[in-house]
Amino acid sequence: MAVDKEKLPVHIGFIMDGNGRWALKRGLPRKMGHREGAKAFRKIARYCKDIGIKYITFYAFSTENWKRPKEEIDEIMRLFGEYLDEAEDFRKDRTRLLFLGDKSAFDEKLRNRMTELEEASAEFDQMTLMLAMNYGGRDEIVRAAERAAEMVLNKEIKLSDIDEKLLGSLMYTGGIPDADLIIRPSGEKRISNFLTWQSAYSELYFTDVLWPDFTSKELDKALEDYASRSRRFGGV
Ligand code: IPE
Ligand code: IPE
Ligand code: MG
Repeated sequence: MAVDKEKLPVHIGFIMDGNGRWALKRGLPRKMGHREGAKAFRKIARYCKDIGIKYITFYAFSTENWKRPKEEIDEIMRLFGEYLDEAEDFRKDRTRLLFLGDKSAFDEKLRNRMTELEEASAEFDQMTLMLAMNYGGRDEIVRAAERAAEMVLNKEIKLSDIDEKLLGSLMYTGGIPDADLIIRPSGEKRISNFLTWQSAYSELYFTDVLWPDFTSKELDKALEDYASRSRRFGGV
């Protein structure tokens, strides 16, 4: 990795897209693409840890992905369960695990395991790995707004206390810095409801590579590109 440490993003978001097309290209069922995608996820997470990225978020399943065929959803949930069962490295890596999204949609076993992992890793600060599952950026903002309204009704806060800082703290990512860089493979140039609130000033990187083919070399390219950008945040 050729990039200066100071020029690395603090928080990278990955939109893990292109699994289906990867499989289709090989004449395989879409679920095989998700299996390969899960392998790429593990490799990229490890690489990010090795090069010292502090926060990584992987978009694995959106609030809109329920529209897919049941067989495909079942395979994604199976892979998710498999990851949750195996996720033990976080202890030696001192990695905090967080699941962004509405957990109520998952079965009890998955829900309990997600909570267990979040609780067991809550004190770790070497790195934070976030997996966005049943996540939608708009859904997240609606929930934060509801929570803020409830706080006003309960007289915990005044209406005038609602500001960007308060709403930000009510997002699933409360306390986590905004995404510096969002990477989307697969050739699509859109955000698809990912980190809507947290991407206000994110740098965007798009590549035609499909997610299962996304390697540490591809990530290096994105990091080099990111390092060359001038982030002004509205200033000069
Ligand atoms: C991304 O890959 C994974 C999920 C959305 C769960 P896709 O399954 O969207 O792959 P393409 O876009 O059809 O190639
Ligand atoms: C975005 O990919 C969601 C995830 C990668 C989890 P999609 O494949 O669902 O996005 P669209 O439909 O192409 O916008
Ligand atoms: Mg897709």
